[in-house]
Amino acid sequence: MPRLLQADDAGILAAAERIRAGGVAAFPTETVYGLGASTFEPAALREVYRMKGRPGDNPLIAHVVDAVDAKRLVRGWDARCSRLAAAFWPGPLTLILPRGEAVPDEAVAGLGSIAVRSPMHPVARSLLYAAAGPISAPSANRSGHVSPTTAAHVVADFPLEPDLLVLDGGRAGFGIESTVLDLTAEEPVIRRPGSVTSEDLRRLLGPVKVAHAVEQGASPGTSLIHYAPDRPATMVPSVRLGAFLATLQEPAAVLALPGTEVRVPHVAIRMDPDAQGYARMLYAGLREAEATGLPRIVIEEPAGREGVWLAVLDRLRRATVRG
Ligand code: TXA
Ligand code: MG
Repeated sequence: MPRLLQADDAGILAAAERIRAGGVAAFPTETVYGLGASTFEPAALREVYRMKGRPGDNPLIAHVVDAVDAKRLVRGWDARCSRLAAAFWPGPLTLILPRGEAVPDEAVAGLGSIAVRSPMHPVARSLLYAAAGPISAPSANRSGHVSPTTAAHVVADFPLEPDLLVLDGGRAGFGIESTVLDLTAEEPVIRRPGSVTSEDLRRLLGPVKVAHAVEQGASPGTSLIHYAPDRPATMVPSVRLGAFLATLQEPAAVLALPGTEVRVPHVAIRMDPDAQGYARMLYAGLREAEATGLPRIVIEEPAGREGVWLAVLDRLRRATVRG
């Protein structure tokens, strides 16, 4: 089992020390937990890929304190970037820009670009200050599994890593991964929707494209099968849910909205009716559904189609693609 550390001063210093020494430590951010290594330690970055079982062509996000640090990792930081950073950093927005010369191949899977973001979680920020350099970190889950929103989720995904330090900073507030905005072409492209919405970005930038899952080759980690629970999961519109559940031969764990009837033998996991609340409990809900041991997961499709609902639906579609 990994080693849990309270995210107090001593814990944060221990994790920073580990990262500075070329090791790996998991830490909370406002979106999900990250599995962090120094951006400038290729061996540690390879260790992150090994632990996750992550395909070698899927690049990492470098976490930085602020725009000043981000500029050391990128080329072509322009007025758009400054406006975005002023409006949304620190926070759940990742920017993709041409990669700076100092960045090792291992930090970006050999690509010519790099993703950077400045997290707002106080523990992540303290860790970045204490580590005194950028931290590259994917979500701290086994590759392909749902992202972790608590330290216990991280521990559960890496039972065979006794040397892994996990900073316990409680539950991640946003609950879904950052919005990934690609700025390498003239027109910005959202590669992964998140809590910073397309509306937010268009207000600041003008036209912004949204990449669709099938055409997201430019962001390998956004390939369709991703963020998936460990058993078949199906999404069903509210109006058809009752009939669908009645046809099932086996009991299911059902992520249901408040007020929706879920009859035995099926087991309801109640989700929040508000987009942000739903996002916050989404991954914990999927893991809770797995923990019921029931052979199948059914998700009542939320009706919202704006703002953060788009990010929630993106994750739900990916979670149910095999079901
Ligand atoms: O909220 C988050 O972004 C969390 C926390 C820990 O910061 N991190 C996270 O990392 O979700 P990860 O590795 O699970 O997802 C990063 C996504 C992947 O889809 C990856 O392909 C994409 O960002 N990405 C990273 N660098 C890229 C690049 N240079 N070009 C295109 N896509 C990139
Ligand atoms: Mg991930």
